[in-house]
Amino acid sequence: MSLPSELVVGGARPLRGRLRVPGDKSISHRAYLIGAVASGRSRCTNLATGDDVHASRLAIEHLGVRVRTGRDGAVAIHGVGFDGLREPEVVLDCGNSGTTIRLLLGLLAPQSFHAVLTGDASLRARPMARVVEPLRAMGAAIDGRDGGAFAPLAVRGGASRGIRHELPVATAQVKSALLLAGAQTDGTTEVLEPARSRDHTERLLGALGAPIGVDGLTVRIRRTELGAFELDVPSDPSSAAFFAVAACITPGSDLVLEKLCCNPTRLGFVDVLRRMGADLEVVPTGDEGGEPVGDLHVRASALRATTISGDEIPRVIDEIPALAIAAAFADGTTEIRDAAELRVKESDRIGTIHQELSQLGIGVEPATDGLVIRGGRPRAALLKSHGDHRIAMAAAIAGHAIDGESIVRGWRAVGSSYPEFAAHLERLAGPS
Ligand code: S3P
Repeated sequence: MSLPSELVVGGARPLRGRLRVPGDKSISHRAYLIGAVASGRSRCTNLATGDDVHASRLAIEHLGVRVRTGRDGAVAIHGVGFDGLREPEVVLDCGNSGTTIRLLLGLLAPQSFHAVLTGDASLRARPMARVVEPLRAMGAAIDGRDGGAFAPLAVRGGASRGIRHELPVATAQVKSALLLAGAQTDGTTEVLEPARSRDHTERLLGALGAPIGVDGLTVRIRRTELGAFELDVPSDPSSAAFFAVAACITPGSDLVLEKLCCNPTRLGFVDVLRRMGADLEVVPTGDEGGEPVGDLHVRASALRATTISGDEIPRVIDEIPALAIAAAFADGTTEIRDAAELRVKESDRIGTIHQELSQLGIGVEPATDGLVIRGGRPRAALLKSHGDHRIAMAAAIAGHAIDGESIVRGWRAVGSSYPEFAAHLERLAGPS
């Protein structure tokens, strides 16, 4: 989909109706990467549509896995088993996608061939030592820029033994990389987290019958083989969060966001918005691939400030750009703490949220690990994505809820996760 470089928003038209946002990005990455090493043909529907997940698809194709999209949009992944991957002839370009590069590194660490992984300027600046070091402890030979701290990374396989690894920060990408390596190595791999991060890898591997066990904040896995699967990917709560906040702050809105992944590790934003006085209801509708699914009903309401910190942070880490906009429109001062991880996302989100809220005329103070946001009356502004899809969508919903016209520059960044975002916003807002 070709996207414009700028988006013009404004007018505070109420958002009404029903929307199914694209499939969950985290689950879609795992569907491709795990489908690649399952034995036989897996069939997936409602996979995420953005460039990030496309990078995972291209990567497994370069590793010798046949992938076909049918006329109905269903994707067939012809899995080759852990032993069937082949050495890629090209550098694996992970684009903007941290999940692709880190999970792929784990998947490839026990293989017996050479592969080079890289990405765009943002990805090449993101920390990789957190995944490279434990994979080296499993025996993998990995080289990279600055001793393996940054991509490009070259992996030559070699991971052969399980390890026990204590993560200094809660990160599902590193946890998942170690689990994907541990599924191919001798002994047990054990990963301990300081707080619970999203657990989609555990759920999908568990649903496929892998020897994986969760005990509090510890996950263990042993060597396994995986069978093919069918999966209808639930919709992405991180994408839905932007519409949920937009509905809260745009008077007269009344929205239903359908068939969302309601995994508790992903719904922290619903708890935060409820604390802020939002009118939200989650209605469970079923189960898919080990994940609970439900509809989220949101109506506009006055918001008040809150504090977001501690163990709640991993459950809202991707939603903080949306929640920062809720805070900007809320009554009182919101504090976000213990969120230093925001500095190493697709942009330094503490810096970029600070800049964009300031443009909107909101009082905001950055800290090393968070932000203090004094809610008020945001004004129309010239806004920027900083090349970060979630900052682009945060800017768009803020601008949408203000009477005057705002512009979001660098709109193309939205293509990483949600290329249809502007079309969906326009459809829900109705004619002006
Ligand atoms: C993701 C994990 C999180 C999240 C990212 C997707 C995943 O990153 O921010 O958008 O799919 O595992 P970290 O593992 O770095 O916390």
